[in-house]
Amino acid sequence: MKSNLKIRNVCCIGAGYVGGPTMAVFADKCPNIKFVVVDKNKDRINGWNSENAKSLPVFEPGLEKIIRKTRGENLFFTSDLQQSISNADMVFISVNTPTKEKGLGAGQASDIKWVEVSAREIAKNAKGFTIVVEKSTMPVRTAETIKDILSAAEINSYKTKSFSVLSNPEFLAEGTAINDLENPDRVLIGGDDKDSIDLLSSLYANWVNPEKIIKTNLWSSELSKLAANAFLAQRISSINSIGALCELTGANISEVAHAIGADTRIGNKFLNAGPGFGGSCFRKDLLNLAYLSRHFGLPEVANYWESVIDLNNWQRDRISKVVVEKLFGTVSGKVISIFGFSFKANTNDTRDSPSIKVVQDLLEEGALLYIHDPKVTASQIEEVLKIKQNCFTDKDFIQKTENAYWQYSKSVRESLINSDAAIFLTDWEDYKNIDWNSLSKLMRVPAWIFDCRAILSRESIVEAKLNYWRLGDGSNI
Ligand code: NAD
Ligand code: UGA
Repeated sequence: MKSNLKIRNVCCIGAGYVGGPTMAVFADKCPNIKFVVVDKNKDRINGWNSENAKSLPVFEPGLEKIIRKTRGENLFFTSDLQQSISNADMVFISVNTPTKEKGLGAGQASDIKWVEVSAREIAKNAKGFTIVVEKSTMPVRTAETIKDILSAAEINSYKTKSFSVLSNPEFLAEGTAINDLENPDRVLIGGDDKDSIDLLSSLYANWVNPEKIIKTNLWSSELSKLAANAFLAQRISSINSIGALCELTGANISEVAHAIGADTRIGNKFLNAGPGFGGSCFRKDLLNLAYLSRHFGLPEVANYWESVIDLNNWQRDRISKVVVEKLFGTVSGKVISIFGFSFKANTNDTRDSPSIKVVQDLLEEGALLYIHDPKVTASQIEEVLKIKQNCFTDKDFIQKTENAYWQYSKSVRESLINSDAAIFLTDWEDYKNIDWNSLSKLMRVPAWIFDCRAILSRESIVEAKLNYWRLGDGSNI
């Protein structure tokens, strides 16, 4: 029966950074299949259904165009979970799996409560045979929990319902999500039912070369996703550790990265030193990997992966220390511009952004901060910092207050007015061609530019008579 099944209706639970873009690309590539993305968050669904491009909950280059093409044709966003599941032949679970905040494993294990809720909703509302696909990043062996819940429903329904569970982790990176989805390095499908694997594979085959579709057992697939993120994060901690050594020895991290990356065994990607990795996944997945390793009796393995996070924390925390040191040991009452609040360029996502900690540290030191980001809004920053913005351009106000303040800035120019320093934390294109010759005159001298992404031109900044510090660059000494 299963081999005759055709997939006509797909439901995706979770309309976030993964569910929204992934289903949009599926809908574009599989015009004969209907995709319904469902979320309990009604504001998010309204955002996805909005005609105003700025209201889309996720900013990704190329996303808006695909949404305009497919939405209302074969792509739909709704909060009607029950109906969407009962119509579906295949249900993707694409809900959040954050680090647990309390209870057993708090601060380490991934919280799969929303996965469990989704499995229970599928168990209750599905009709006939349904393929359930883990799209979220799950701790290895989560499929067992999902299968247990679904098997109980199979028995209770006297087998009028039946299920197959697959793991199909997502490898897209934010900022390049559409390109990553359209041209994936590989697609990974884990499972134990060949017919179901072939059905999911046939959807991808609409645009992905079958040679790129890797088929494994469930546990290899679940673990490969955690391992891939851990390896990527480890590369960043490795390059950042060498960058710190460059600063003290006269070496230059861009040159070192180029030299080591030319070895094809190492490869030249993911070797950019920076303020440490951010985003919703690397820290969470490393913590989870360490937790699982310890759980399975492998403390040495856990310690190894935890050291990647330790290095990342150290890297992120040392930025504000460098800034304070260069500004004569104090930033109290000084105006500092923060450029970039998202965790990387081309996304409006601020989750675990290194900028958050740098900003918190400088506010703690009493600095007055302008914060600029091309896509992150003032209200997002207020929500993350849990501090309302204040206008501090009034000189009297600055002199009379002992408190630290931040203010949203709409342009690079506005940010630099009266600034003692500017810190570049996100590698947005907008920051790469600043006219330092004219804008330097707006700053209070002696002023400093801190380039934590190696995106600015040392020559033009030094020519404009500003002091320049670049992360990982031994010419600072
Ligand atoms: P997200 O928080 O942006 O989106 C998750 C959505 O699921 C939310 O809108 C939430 O309201 C919804 N949701 C949760 N429980 C629900 C329920 N029971 N019913 C209906 N809706 C529900 O998260 P995300 O960034 O899209 O990540 C989702 C998963 O994908 C995570 O496991 C993550 O690790 C993984 N992942 C993320 C990325 C990324 O770039 N963000 C990339 C690859 C994998
Ligand atoms: C990462 C992985 O790259 C994706 O494959 C994976 O699907 C995703 O996590 C996930 O599971 O959520 P993402 O976090 O969106 O994607 O973005 P990355 O490009 O990996 O960047 C992560 C962080 O590392 C950013 O803060 C970025 O600035 C930093 N980074 C990246 C560097 O500091 N140097 C680099 O060379 C690359």
